[in-house]
Amino acid sequence: MTDNYQTLKKHLTDLSLKKVAAIFEEEATKAAKAGLSYTDYLKKLIEEEVVNKTDRSINAKIAKARFPQLKTLEMFEFSFQPSVDEKYIRELAHLGFLEKAENVVFLGPPGVGKTHLAIALGIKACFAKKKGFVYDCLRAC
Ligand SMILES: Nc1ncnc2c1ncn2[C@@H]1O[C@H](COP(=O)(O)OP(=O)(O)OP(=O)(O)O)[C@@H](O)[C@H]1O
Ligand SMILES: [Mg+2]
Repeated sequence: MTDNYQTLKKHLTDLSLKKVAAIFEEEATKAAKAGLSYTDYLKKLIEEEVVNKTDRSINAKIAKARFPQLKTLEMFEFSFQPSVDEKYIRELAHLGFLEKAENVVFLGPPGVGKTHLAIALGIKACFAKKKGFVYDCLRAC
């Protein structure tokens, strides 16, 4: 590795551009072979960094929420639970209740999926990068 590469790598790491730091050499070789313009090469690096940072920020939100289990809406079988209004739950998943600062409370007998749905909405909020979703174990478990 040349001094230039090492210096560049350090600057990128200092700037928290970890993905760019990890891939810029390999991508430079590929770009040269493919005859990419400087702009296309830079675009590729920045897009990779954006994807990487986006995923990390969502994962960080999910970790911070400390859900007791990871349950998603996609894992919920509405056919097993006909008393749950699928249309209404899918509406809740648009998170309009957060904008309106409304509470969602699931009530029902044990084991019917109340916690599952509460976590699923929380995960949707993490993906939507919403702040202010409070998963309340006392109310949701
Ligand atoms: N319709 C469903 N589709 C998929 N999984 C379900 C469904 N209903 C319940 N489950 C699963 O069954 C288990 C129990 O559900 P959950 O913990 O959400 O129930 P609960 O209503 O919160 O019960 P409790 O009142 O005891 O807290 C979980 O693993 C959940 O993922
Ligand atoms: Mg529960």
